[in-house]
Amino acid sequence: MKTVTLTMPLDMHLHLRDGEMLETVAPLTSYSFSGALVMPNLVPPVTTKEMVSGYKERILHATGADDFEPYMTLFYQNYSRAFLEEIKDDIIAIKLYPSGVTTNSEGGVASFDIESMRETLEAMSDLGIVLSVHGETNGFVMDREAEFMSVYEMLASNFPRLKIVMEHITTRDAVEMLDKYDNLYATITVHHLMITLDDVAGGLLRPHLFCKPIAKRPNDREALLKVALEAHPKVMFGSDSAPHPKHAKESCGCGAGVFTAPIALQLLCEIFDAHGKLDNLQAFVSDNAQRIYGICAEYKEVTLSKREFHVPDIYGSVVPMKAGETLKWSIERVD
Ligand code: DOR
Ligand code: ZN
Repeated sequence: MKTVTLTMPLDMHLHLRDGEMLETVAPLTSYSFSGALVMPNLVPPVTTKEMVSGYKERILHATGADDFEPYMTLFYQNYSRAFLEEIKDDIIAIKLYPSGVTTNSEGGVASFDIESMRETLEAMSDLGIVLSVHGETNGFVMDREAEFMSVYEMLASNFPRLKIVMEHITTRDAVEMLDKYDNLYATITVHHLMITLDDVAGGLLRPHLFCKPIAKRPNDREALLKVALEAHPKVMFGSDSAPHPKHAKESCGCGAGVFTAPIALQLLCEIFDAHGKLDNLQAFVSDNAQRIYGICAEYKEVTLSKREFHVPDIYGSVVPMKAGETLKWSIERVD
C-alpha cells in the first residue's frame, strides 16, 4: 500500500473559536498537526497580552496534547512600539482584517492610511513580527482579492523588512504577486485547491463550501495548484478551517467558513498523489512554514496511507467538508 510520512505538519491559518466549539475542534487539529497559526477573530477580538495568554491556555487545555503548539496572533490595530515590544514573545504574527469583509472582522482596518499605520508596521519589521493579511476589498465579490493587490504592493514596498503573508489566496493575480516582492508570502487552503465557484453555487447551493474569499475560476485554481504542487518556497499550507454550527450554515444568512481540520492532510495526500507530487508535500505542509516564520515545530510524525476514509457526517455541531463521503487517503499513525 502506498504510504507517506509527514514530519511536523503545520496549519498556518486556523480558526479555533472559544468555549464549547474550541473543545470540539482543537483536538481534531492537535491530533495530526504539530502546530497551527491561530486566528484572533474572536468576539471581542484578541487585542491584549492577557487575551493572548488566556486564549493560548484554553487552547492547550482543549487539545490535551503535549506535542502541539498554538502559534498565537493579535488582531491588527495600530499598536504602539512599546506594546509590541512587550508582547513580541507571545505572538508570531498580527492578523489584519479590512473592516467588515468576513466573519468577526468589524473591528478591522477601515482605511489603509500608511502614515497612521507606520509606527506599528515599522515596529513589527524591527521585532520580526509577521503581518498576516485577509486581502479583500469590499468590491464585487469575485474581484475583491484582485482589487486588494494594490494594497499588498503598497505595504510590501513601504515596509520591505516586514514579512507579509497573503492569507488563503484564491486568484492567479495573488500567485503572480508572490515573485514581485521579496517580502510577500502566501498560504493556500486545501479547499481552494479543489473547488471553484461552480462547486459552491453552480448547482444546488452548497453552504458548507461557502467561505471568504469565495472560490474563484478554474484558471485561478490552476495557478494555486501549480505553486502548491511545486511547493513554491514562499507558499505554505493554511487550512482556514473555520467551524460554524450546522444551524448557522444551513440557514438564511449562512456564515462564511469551510471546516476541513479533520480531513486536511488526507485531502492534501490525495491531491499531491494524483499529480505525482507527493514528494513535495512535506515542504508545503511544514518546511516552508518553518523557514518563513523562523519556527522549530514540535516533533511529530504522521503516516498516511492510500486506504479509504469515511468522513463523519458531523463533528459535534459542525459539518465538515466532504461529510458522509469517502476519501482515498487516511491517517494510519501519529508518532
Ligand atoms: O470563510 C471564512 N471564515 N473566511 C474568513 O476570513 C473568516 C472565517 C471565519 O472566521 O469563519
Ligand atoms: Zn481565516
